[in-house]
Amino acid sequence: MFVFIQGVSPGHIGTLGCQGNFRPPWRSLPGKCSYFCTENPLTSPLFTLPRQKKMHPSTLLSYPVILLLSCIILAGGCTNSSKQMKDTTPCEDSAVLSNILSRTSIRSYKDIPVEGEKIEKLLRAAMASPSAANRQPWHFVVVRDKQRRRALSEANPNASMAQDAPLCIVVCGDLEKALPGEGAQYWVQDASAACQNLLLEATALGLGAVWTGTYPIKDRCDAVSKALSLPDHIVPLCTVCIGYPDSKPQPKDKFDQRKISYETFGGKKVDELSLSDAPAPKKVLHPFDINDDFERNAFNFFEDNGGLILCSGDDKKSNAMTIGWGEMGTLWGRNSLTVYVARARYTREFVDSYPYFTVMKFSDREIARYLGSHSGRDGDKAAALGLHTAYTSNGAPYYEEADLVIECKVMYSDEFEKESFRSSVPENFYRNFPAGLHALYIGEVVGAMKK
Ligand SMILES: Cc1cc2nc3c(=O)[nH]c(=O)nc-3n(C[C@H](O)[C@H](O)[C@H](O)COP(=O)(O)O)c2cc1C
Repeated sequence: MFVFIQGVSPGHIGTLGCQGNFRPPWRSLPGKCSYFCTENPLTSPLFTLPRQKKMHPSTLLSYPVILLLSCIILAGGCTNSSKQMKDTTPCEDSAVLSNILSRTSIRSYKDIPVEGEKIEKLLRAAMASPSAANRQPWHFVVVRDKQRRRALSEANPNASMAQDAPLCIVVCGDLEKALPGEGAQYWVQDASAACQNLLLEATALGLGAVWTGTYPIKDRCDAVSKALSLPDHIVPLCTVCIGYPDSKPQPKDKFDQRKISYETFGGKKVDELSLSDAPAPKKVLHPFDINDDFERNAFNFFEDNGGLILCSGDDKKSNAMTIGWGEMGTLWGRNSLTVYVARARYTREFVDSYPYFTVMKFSDREIARYLGSHSGRDGDKAAALGLHTAYTSNGAPYYEEADLVIECKVMYSDEFEKESFRSSVPENFYRNFPAGLHALYIGEVVGAMKK
């Protein structure tokens, strides 16, 4: 049995002792002390951990001395550590909350590999999660190979970023380790908790990550299993795409008192709880007069910062997409705003059917990137981005997280006709444009809001 001790210093505690395989107990205290066995698969070349070498007899002789010194250092370290844990609990608590609150999904990454030590920390954080009856029914596949990442991105329409992320970790359930009987499905919760731990550790390490769901959609599970040669008892729950962030989206404030009941469903809060009665804090959008208080350059307003967002629908169904084309001006004596929507867009079905649309601007470029590269036909894009839909007094949908919202009532719409092209500019554009001709929607600006 060989034990390596990492990061033991005064004020840090750890636990020693491990049998020669990778089964529990191996645990880590993130940022404090960790221990593991030499036969641990984590010591594969992926990680830069020390490996065993044959020992010279003189080295062996020095072991009792080293052992004695280690015991003294560890004893001091443990004493200090337990004291420090007591003294610093409140501080650590707020550090945890700030880590949790600063996590947000990151979908674009720099072309820089993630270091082996960081990958190890991610996996240690994941495996430190609680699990039903301590079964630890999980398995993690670390994927860095480009071809395999491409296969992961193709396995799931919401995981296109897997091919650009330098690292993917596929979080799986191990059905052979799951509880028997009715409790078998607890593996989903266990592996989900592990995944969340992994995401939080990624934030702590300055990495960006996004959770893309696989299980329980069969096609996705089959495709991921095939790409990674997973045996039948290993079920892919999700793929976490990870890398150094190429964008800095602001985390969303999701705290919402309306989602809390006390004692029974719908129960009001009891007095001694210090949560305020105020409605959930929202980033409030204020109405403004677009004639007096709009100073944007109309020539670059639409495509600036990765594009604007066009949204249409009602409180039952709505969809949004990125637009880079548009005009603002005056028509029929009204403030007007025109958008252009190609025939193949799902959003087209909405702007064709509903009387209002909204055009939004976000400071977070990631929103436009995602809404402009995914179709609402394949899933709820707003939900995927964690955006909250709200409605104007006319019932037009918009997202609470937007920085600017312009509401329009459709006055006129029509599709371009090839016969009406008067220059080579549109001719050339549509020569190689499979999404089909655009229709134009001229809206009367009926409302505007900004933060
Ligand atoms: C920066 C950018 C600008 C875009 N501008 C337009 C546009 O003006 N009109 C359009 O029809 N599609 C435009 N698109 C493409 C759509 O946003 C994209 O095809 C989207 O996935 C359609 O989503 P949907 O199928 O849910 O409607 C743009 C995409 C990007 C990334």
